[in-house]
Amino acid sequence: MLAINYDKEQKIFNLSNGKISYILGIEKDCYVKHIYFGKYLSSYNGSNAQLFYDRGFCSNPIASDRNFSLDTLLQEYPDFNQGDFRNPAYIIQTEDGKRVNRFYYDSFNIIEGKPKLEGLPSLYVNNENEAKTLCIILKDVVMNASIYLYYTIFADYDVICRHTEIVNHGDKSIYLDKVMSFSMDFADSDYDVMTLSGAHLYEKNIYRRAIKPDSIVLESIRGTSSPQATPFIALMDKNANEDIGSVWAFNFIYSGDFQASVQVGQYKTTRVQMGMNPTTFGWTLSGKEKFVSPEAVLVYTDKGLNTMSQIFHKLYRNQLCRGLYKEKARPILLNSWEACHFEVNEDNCLDLARQAGELGIELFVLDDGWFKNRCDDTQGLGDWLEDEAKFSHGLKTLAQKIKEKGLLFGLWFEPEMISKNSELYKNHPDWVIRSMDYEPILSRCQYVLDLSNIEVCNYLVEKISNILENNVEISYVKWDMNRHLTDLGSAYLNSKEQKELSHRYVLGLYYILEKLTQRFKNVLFESCSSGGGRYDAGMLYYMPQTWASDNTDAICRLKIQYGTSILFPAITMGSHVSIVPNHQVGRITPLKTRFAVASSGNLGYELDLNKLNDGEKEEIKKQVAWYKQYRDVIQRGTFYRIKSPFDGNDISWNFISEDENTVICYFHQILVEPIYRNLILKLKGLQEDALYNLVGTDKVFSGSELMYAGLMIPKIEEDFYSNIYVFKKSV
Ligand code: GLA
Repeated sequence: MLAINYDKEQKIFNLSNGKISYILGIEKDCYVKHIYFGKYLSSYNGSNAQLFYDRGFCSNPIASDRNFSLDTLLQEYPDFNQGDFRNPAYIIQTEDGKRVNRFYYDSFNIIEGKPKLEGLPSLYVNNENEAKTLCIILKDVVMNASIYLYYTIFADYDVICRHTEIVNHGDKSIYLDKVMSFSMDFADSDYDVMTLSGAHLYEKNIYRRAIKPDSIVLESIRGTSSPQATPFIALMDKNANEDIGSVWAFNFIYSGDFQASVQVGQYKTTRVQMGMNPTTFGWTLSGKEKFVSPEAVLVYTDKGLNTMSQIFHKLYRNQLCRGLYKEKARPILLNSWEACHFEVNEDNCLDLARQAGELGIELFVLDDGWFKNRCDDTQGLGDWLEDEAKFSHGLKTLAQKIKEKGLLFGLWFEPEMISKNSELYKNHPDWVIRSMDYEPILSRCQYVLDLSNIEVCNYLVEKISNILENNVEISYVKWDMNRHLTDLGSAYLNSKEQKELSHRYVLGLYYILEKLTQRFKNVLFESCSSGGGRYDAGMLYYMPQTWASDNTDAICRLKIQYGTSILFPAITMGSHVSIVPNHQVGRITPLKTRFAVASSGNLGYELDLNKLNDGEKEEIKKQVAWYKQYRDVIQRGTFYRIKSPFDGNDISWNFISEDENTVICYFHQILVEPIYRNLILKLKGLQEDALYNLVGTDKVFSGSELMYAGLMIPKIEEDFYSNIYVFKKSV
C-alpha cells in the first residue's frame, strides 16, 4: 500500500500508505501547492481544487491573471517578497544584501527508504521497504541555488516527516535568515490548537484554545527546547477529544531554539510552520555548500488525541530511540540527589547502595557533588576530576563495591557547563559563550561552553570517555544542563558566523552525544535539563530516557507526566519516589501514591533511605518487586489516558501489555469531596469479548463491561489517594 504516485497530467504527487494520504501539486508550473493531508483517499481527482478570485491587495505574479495570487494559494514552502504576505518559510539574502529571489519548481526524485540527516537526529528505518521519500527540487537560476523539500511516508505509521535542504550551486555566499523545516497550509481555520507549555518544575501543561484570524507563536530562544515551551502543535477538529476526531500534530526533532506558528490568514486559511527560531538563527552558505534543516514529524489521525499519542509513542520507541536500552528493561534506580545533595562521599554512597540492594533496587546513581571543588552549585564544573577528599579510594573502587552489592553504578555529569574557578576556565576563558566586550551573565553561577568550537567538543568527548573508560563499571550516565544561553558570542566563530552560534551549539552537542553513545554502547544515558527542560525528540535519539521534572511531588507530577504522555512514551520518562514533605512544594503524600505516580514511568527512588522506618522499607520492597513484575507492561505497553488532571479531581490512565494479556489501570484522587457520587472508570483498549480477572480477587469482567459499563470506584476518604488495578486476561 505504501506509494508515492506522480500524476504527470495534473502535476500532482500523492503519498499514501492505506491509512493516510498527503497530496501536493505544482501550480502554474512554478509553485508547490498543498492539496491535502489526512485520512487515506482511495483516489484523488481534484474535488477540493482551490478556486481563485480577484481580491484587494493581492499581487499577481502572472500579469495576465488577476485572480491568481500567492497570497491565497495553499502552499508547501512559501517564499518571501513575492506577494504572499503570510509567514514565509524561508528568507535568503544574497551577498549584496538583497532578499528578493525566485525559487520555482524544477524537478523531483523518489527515494526508497529514508535518507539520513547528516549531523542531526532523525527518524530512521531499518529497511528500505519501510518508507519512501519524495524530494521536490526548487531552483532560483539567478541566485544559482536550490531548495530540496523532503517528504517521507512510512508503511506502518500515520506519519509524514519533512525537512528542507538548501544548496548553493554558485561561488558567492548566500545568507539564510530563516529556514523552516516545513510549512503547510490548511484551506480553512475551524480548528482548536493544543500546545504544551510550562516552566521549571511545571513542565508540559496542556493548553487548548480556538484559533482566530491572527497568529499563535510558540518559541524558545533559550538555547534549548526548554521547560517553558515544547516544539509541538496539534490542530484539532472542534469535536475532537481523546477518543474521536481529526488531529494533525506536529513535533520537531531538535533540542535548541525553535519557532512553531499557527497563522490564520485574512481569508481564513491556516498556515502551520516549524523550524529553527529565526531570532537566533542565521547561516552563511558558502559556494557549493549545503544546509540541512532539522526534521519535523507530522501525524494525522481521525481517532482523537489518544491515538495521536500512541502513534508518537510507537514511532519514537521504534524509529527514533536507539541502542541497547531501546529494547531492554530499564533498571530501577536510587539517585543520591534528594538524599544527599552535594554532601556525597564514599561512606554514605555505599550505605545507600547497600540499603537499596536490600530493597531490590538495581542501579545506584551518584548525582551532583562527586567531583573536585563541588561543594555547592557555585563551582567545580569543567575539570571533571575525582574528589579524593570525598572518595578516597576513587570512583573505580566505589563502582566495584557497588557492583559487589548487586547494583549497577551510574554517574551525573553536566558537561556543557563551566565554573569560573575551574582550571578549564583559567586555561581557556575563550571557550565560554560570551561577547568579549562584556562580562558574561551567570546563571546558577555557571557559564556555558562554546560547543560551536570543535576543540571544546573533542575536549568533552575525551574527558568523559576517560572517566567512563577508567571506571568500566559505569553503566549509566545522567547528562544534565542547568542553565540557558545568554551573551550569544563566540571567540571561535568569525563575524559573519556569530549568528550561527545557537544552531552550531546544538550541532556540537549532537556531535558529542553521537561519539559518546556510539563509543559506550552499553551505557544507559538519561538526559536532564533541570528536569524536563530538554525533554524533546532530538535528545531521545541519543538518550532513550529523560528526567521529566525536578518537581518530584506526586500531585504536581500527575499533570507533568500526563502532559508528557501527549508526545512521549512511558519508557522514556524518568519518575522517582521522593521523601515527604516534598522538597519542591512541601506537600505530604502517602508512599503508595508517590509510587503509583512514579511507577507510570521508569521507576526510581530519590530519597534518604535512612529516614524511612521499617514499615516504609517493607512497602518499598514490595513496590520494587511489583514494578519488576509489571515493568514490561509499562515500558513496552500501550498507554491510554482516561481522566485528565487538567479537567478535575479524579485522574486515571491504563496500560495494556504488548501481548494484551495484562491491563494496569491507575486511579488517583487529589482531594476528598464532600458528596457521594458514582465515580466510574471506563477502561480503554481491552478486547471486548475477552474476560479479565481483577488480580487479588475472584472477580472476572468482560472487556466490553470494563470499557463501556466501567469500574465503580468506592468513595475514598483520603486526600492524595492512588490505587492500581491489575487485570489479567483469563485463558
Ligand atoms: C538538576 C537536575 C537534578 C540534579 C541537580 C544537581 O537540577 O535536574 O536532578 O541532578 O541538577 O545539581
